[in-house]
Amino acid sequence: MIGIGLLGCGRISENHLVGYRDPEDLAQRGEIVALCDPNEEALRRQATRHEVARRYTRIEQLIDDRNVQVVAVLTPPDLRCDVVIPLLEAGKHVLVEKPFAHTYEEAQRMVDAAARCNRVLAVNQNYRWRADTLKLKELVDQGAIGQVVGMHQLHAMWRDEGPGWRRTTDYLAMAVMAVHWLDRFRWLAADEATSVYTAARSTGLLQSRGEDWAAMTVKFKGGAIGQCTEDWCSATRHRADTFVIDGTTGSLMADRSTITRFGRDTGDEQKYEVSGEFPATFAHSMRLVLEAVAGGTEPSISGRDNLNTIALLDACYTSAASGEVVHLDTALGAANDTATAAAHANGPATAAAGAGATHGSR
Ligand SMILES: NC(=O)c1ccc[n+]([C@@H]2O[C@H](COP(=O)([O-])OP(=O)(O)OC[C@H]3O[C@@H](n4cnc5c(N)ncnc54)[C@H](O)[C@@H]3O)[C@@H](O)[C@H]2O)c1
Repeated sequence: MIGIGLLGCGRISENHLVGYRDPEDLAQRGEIVALCDPNEEALRRQATRHEVARRYTRIEQLIDDRNVQVVAVLTPPDLRCDVVIPLLEAGKHVLVEKPFAHTYEEAQRMVDAAARCNRVLAVNQNYRWRADTLKLKELVDQGAIGQVVGMHQLHAMWRDEGPGWRRTTDYLAMAVMAVHWLDRFRWLAADEATSVYTAARSTGLLQSRGEDWAAMTVKFKGGAIGQCTEDWCSATRHRADTFVIDGTTGSLMADRSTITRFGRDTGDEQKYEVSGEFPATFAHSMRLVLEAVAGGTEPSISGRDNLNTIALLDACYTSAASGEVVHLDTALGAANDTATAAAHANGPATAAAGAGATHGSR
């Protein structure tokens, strides 16, 4: 049994605590044995509710606990290298919540530390395991729409945050939410970005100071274009979450619970209803980490794979600030071939596959 510790007992810890407990295979492999948070109230609330005996307010205590082999890092996103690198250096394997980092340089430092310490380092890109994404991925990989030519993601909601890091961060809508869609573009197109153009603003409609309206245009090596709109201040209030992917022989449209396939020449339509529990997506990321720890392999959601998602996110911020197109360099593009091969593996029903990716820099 592998001992798991959670670093951070805030909002998202509930999904990890509930998610890891339910699937039998996961419960047999690993167990949450310790929680750590400097906020004693958050720590007590989650430890009591989920009956976790070991409770720490300092990371050093978690590091010293030999019962903990894997740590899920659920801290605010500006706290990454400072906790992840000491954990790796202390011999812990680490699953980091998204966004892995705000900059490519930070992400690279953590990936280098994992390689140096020979530890598993993964990122919770759990939207890859959402029921709609799983079905989309299955259909795209089966050739249901031919070769991918373009993708649209529209996500609009009203998200005025209470006190906390989402109010004060300079990295809001793109880093906190669009990172899921940028990663899903990579995952579904099985391709890597070559350039990005982004317009983003803070409208002043929310109490948060970071960007709350962003339009990101991404070009991929194979020619596909991804267009992502992330809007946190929509008066529609209702959460619009619509995705369209066009291919040479058809298109798929997803609104979370329904996926429709449209044939290009025949005009036929097929509908697929999908459903799934959100905590199960968190459980699957941890399942991949535990499999990688046991098998000495690299999970498809490895930190190394995520360098390409963070390269994309970093480029979006650079483009938004400069108003220029940002080109991702050829070293990154070349490395992506192997990272993409790894990204094909490790869906919930597949066995873990190793990846021997090397990575470039940006
Ligand atoms: N994957 C998803 O679907 C998803 C959804 C929501 C949030 N998240 C991510 O989860 C992370 C946390 O978000 P949240 O909503 O839980 O935030 P939160 O503010 O509710 O919780 C963060 C917790 O971290 C604690 N913390 C701060 N410094 C710490 C330290 N040094 N050591 C240990 N704990 C520390 C805080 O006291 C707080 O309890 C973010 O990266 C966020 O993007 C992921």
